[in-house]
Amino acid sequence: MKVLVTGGAGYIGSVTAKALEEAGHTPVILDSLLTGPLAFVRDRTFYEGDIADRALLRRVVDEHPDIEATIHMAARIVVPESVELPYEYYRDNVAKSLELFDELNNLGKTRVLFSSSASLYATKDDFEVTEDDALDPPSPYARTKRMMEQILQDMAVATDLRAIILRYFNPIGSDPDLESGIYAKEPSHVLGQLVMAARGQKDAFTITGVDHPTRDGTGIRDYIHVWDLARAHVRAIEKFDEVIAEAAAPSVIINVGTGEGVTVRELVTAFQNVFGHEVPVREAPPRPGDAVGAFANVDRSARLLDWRTELSLEDAIASALAWGEKRREILGYE
Ligand SMILES: NC(=O)c1ccc[n+]([C@@H]2O[C@H](COP(=O)([O-])OP(=O)(O)OC[C@H]3O[C@@H](n4cnc5c(N)ncnc54)[C@H](O)[C@@H]3O)[C@@H](O)[C@H]2O)c1
Repeated sequence: MKVLVTGGAGYIGSVTAKALEEAGHTPVILDSLLTGPLAFVRDRTFYEGDIADRALLRRVVDEHPDIEATIHMAARIVVPESVELPYEYYRDNVAKSLELFDELNNLGKTRVLFSSSASLYATKDDFEVTEDDALDPPSPYARTKRMMEQILQDMAVATDLRAIILRYFNPIGSDPDLESGIYAKEPSHVLGQLVMAARGQKDAFTITGVDHPTRDGTGIRDYIHVWDLARAHVRAIEKFDEVIAEAAAPSVIINVGTGEGVTVRELVTAFQNVFGHEVPVREAPPRPGDAVGAFANVDRSARLLDWRTELSLEDAIASALAWGEKRREILGYE
């Protein structure tokens, strides 16, 4: 099956393109290279351009009339930057996606798989969230994701578009062949920070927030190996019409996580076990906007996608460490 992947030069998009290929499908990448590196596109069919460029979309579909679904991952994704640049975030994520969805519908390309985020959920006492739990998107970035969910839900009611909305939990790790991974120069997320501390690029790893109402006071997340996440997309694409029929609605939201909550301290312990050495750790107050966190209830993904994660936290940590060693070769920087 041919699948249009917007944002296919990015971290998750490049790994998903690989998972599609391994399952015998053909990704067609559309990416502006706003952030994603050209090296991650490799030898795939590639259109460099913007998701809101309707003429380009028409050309892509004209040249690939057999595209059967679109995975829409292209977005601006940096939470603190979204606070500084709300116009750019709402324009690029919301307004441009609206153009993309409308043009896809015009072109009769009506199956859309959308990358949403677990950061939408309000904090719950037991931290386990189902798709029907309350939402409280804490940043402009998260609010763009919620708006896009709503746009897709409304368009799916009014038009032929059909949407599977995947709420990703916390992707970590890299491509299994170490061909792509996290490419930010200074990764701000917790595992990237740990890898930097382990490789001596920082003097210590700082736990931000140790008084949260979790079992050890540190934030809780559901870390999913990016390869498992990529496989969930393949499954959703292959079962698209079945999923929509079973959901008995023109759009459906599905959590994509492991179903296991891991605290920051637990992550540090697992990291040290895989790395084989202690990493110096400091403690600090939470940063503004830091959420306690959540982990996924995975009943719906098991039922509708017939999919579960297969790789462990340790697998993901090992893959992130290996990518840390390899990435200079591919990216040209540490
Ligand atoms: N990484 C995470 O932790 C995480 C968690 C939840 C959801 N998501 C979502 O998953 C998707 C992929 O995330 P990622 O981590 O791979 O991010 P990424 O930044 O690596 O990839 C996004 C890609 O989109 C491209 N892009 C941005 N704006 C574009 C535009 N207007 N037109 C064409 N291309 C454009 C960028 O060049 C980049 O290659 C995003 O939608 C993100 O919001 C990510």
